Amino acid sequence: MLKDHFITSDGKRIDLIPGWFERKISWPYGIKSLQEFADKCFDGTPDAYPKGYGFFINKVVVFNYFREVLNECFLGRQKFPMALDIGTGPAIQPRLLKASGMCETAWGIDILERDKEFTDANTFEFLEEMNRTYRSRDKAKQKELAAIVDFLNAQLGNWYPLPLLSTIFDPSRPHGLDKYVVDDFMTWEPPGGETFDLITGIMCIEYFDERTLLKKIESLLKPGGIFFVIVDYWHEVCGGSMQLPMDAPWLHCRLTREDLIRYYKEIRPDLAQAAEKCIYFARSHLTPYDYNDAALAAGMKLIASRRALLNNQSNAGSVNANDGGMFEYFYGTILPQAKKVNPYFSPPDAFTQYLTLVFRKD
Ligand SMILES: C[S@@+](CC[C@H](N)C(=O)[O-])C[C@H]1O[C@@H](n2cnc3c(N)ncnc32)[C@H](O)[C@@H]1O
Repeated sequence: MLKDHFITSDGKRIDLIPGWFERKISWPYGIKSLQEFADKCFDGTPDAYPKGYGFFINKVVVFNYFREVLNECFLGRQKFPMALDIGTGPAIQPRLLKASGMCETAWGIDILERDKEFTDANTFEFLEEMNRTYRSRDKAKQKELAAIVDFLNAQLGNWYPLPLLSTIFDPSRPHGLDKYVVDDFMTWEPPGGETFDLITGIMCIEYFDERTLLKKIESLLKPGGIFFVIVDYWHEVCGGSMQLPMDAPWLHCRLTREDLIRYYKEIRPDLAQAAEKCIYFARSHLTPYDYNDAALAAGMKLIASRRALLNNQSNAGSVNANDGGMFEYFYGTILPQAKKVNPYFSPPDAFTQYLTLVFRKD
């Protein structure tokens, strides 16, 4: 019999809900459990990630979204001669930056050696394939491609018709990645004191402490330089990309990181090691206000922020529908507890799937 509550380190009781743990049924990459997720995605060998055409097209959609947000900041026509992508993984984004003509030189940095996952040749083979599909009369292939593009566009809250997407990239432009650095971004010193017009952080800022990250970014940007961030937001009911099944909703927002780890040790000891691997976030309960504060402290400005709200799962719907007292539970219990952990926490945080932030160094 599981315990029906957990006591936080400051003595508060958190009630657990029978059956809630089992409600997490969806996993990425065909994975079926937290243990499998921890083993495949957090063992330092990133082979679990797919690398095919569909995976690539998703990156193209994210890149297009990035362009749209820059447009909304009236930065759409700006060129960024020297660009750096942090937490770059397979370094697809910096290659797309070059293929779109937005930068002249593109570097990527990752703490892991993921530079063999994708090459310049792969990137352009897939871009050509994408462009050929538009030009062809193969309706089946076009439909398949449209399905990938439309799905992620809908999640991001973006719109872009297929034929236009194919006009962004010109494969005849110089497109090769100029440098792949394997290093910890926080301690890396660029050779020759290089600085950048644009730094992007795509699905990676959760790894960093926001205050030291923004200081480091400021030190590497040229005046007027832009830091663009998009991230799978971690307040989502099961912790976003942490993929945590839990015995009550939003425990990762209602507990400090230390208490969350202790909760697994006490209540779900079989999964404690796996959970600890997956709770890779520097702090799990950051909000745009924290990033704004960090930016100001670093001498930068947060000039735009955008949320894509969750359109799946039961959470937003059931809270609004007052399903089984969920509305009272959310506002009466979850929200005050989450605000104790981070006073900036607000209801939209709980329902955001993607968060986008644009910073400028004046
Ligand atoms: C979820 S992946 C995103 C990869 C890529 N940006 C993309 O969208 O395909 C996050 C990446 O951040 C990298 N990372 C984590 N901590 C880092 C650090 N301190 N310095 C550099 N890279 C880091 C990880 O190794 C991982 O490859």
